[in-house]
Amino acid sequence: MNFRKKLIAGNWKMNKSGAEAADLVADLVAPLASQTEVDVLICPPFTALETVSRKLEGSSIKLGAQNMHAELSGAYTGEISAPMLRDLFVTYVILGHSERRQLFGETDAVVNTKVLAALKNELRPILCVGETLAEREAGDTLRVVQTQVEAGLAGVYAEHAASVTIAYEPVWAIGTGKVATAEQAQEVHAFIRSLLVTRFDDTIARKIRLLYGGSMKPANAPELLTQQDIDGGLIGGASLEARSFLELIEAAA
Ligand code: G3P
Repeated sequence: MNFRKKLIAGNWKMNKSGAEAADLVADLVAPLASQTEVDVLICPPFTALETVSRKLEGSSIKLGAQNMHAELSGAYTGEISAPMLRDLFVTYVILGHSERRQLFGETDAVVNTKVLAALKNELRPILCVGETLAEREAGDTLRVVQTQVEAGLAGVYAEHAASVTIAYEPVWAIGTGKVATAEQAQEVHAFIRSLLVTRFDDTIARKIRLLYGGSMKPANAPELLTQQDIDGGLIGGASLEARSFLELIEAAA
């Protein structure tokens, strides 16, 4: 039996002005006012965090960021730290997204320093892992995911582990419309769960939520979300519009 509460998280990526973000939040807050079955998280771009934070006052929708720097302050032009995020009532932070890894050169070691810094500063990291198409076709999926999970969690204490969420996002499924089948996704999720049993223990592994990300839409969500080890979704495109995001939350309930 799976007792983990599902989490539906919207990763808005580099989309939405402040005004657009405010409109989208307004369209989510009222319909979700009495919703308690599913945890809901939205991760706007940095520039919209303050606006969205104000709009979320009194709502159960959680606020997340899409990245952060591991240091607390200093000469890091263009970067944002954990205390700056907490100042805006951010509680989650997406780390190691494949776009950060591929386009901005983030290595497993960099991602790990951020995971540790997030936990130390009372932010809940969402550690993203996933293989490229070439890696899947070469039969390397599980090896790649294992490396990313183990490296990303290096040095994480057992007592902090339940604050971590892991998002499995096959790179070939992100923004492509090619969703992993429920079986493909469940296979990797079960494998990640087994890695967590080895890394921590069975009790902790059962508490850690594993999200699927990659072209998740209202049409394919029900099958994905009923898999034993899929505890929610990290949604890109379908989180940019209230109707589809609300349908995904409905599918998770
Ligand atoms: O982090 C979410 C993500 O990369 C999936 O994006 O647009 O395929 O849902 P999308």
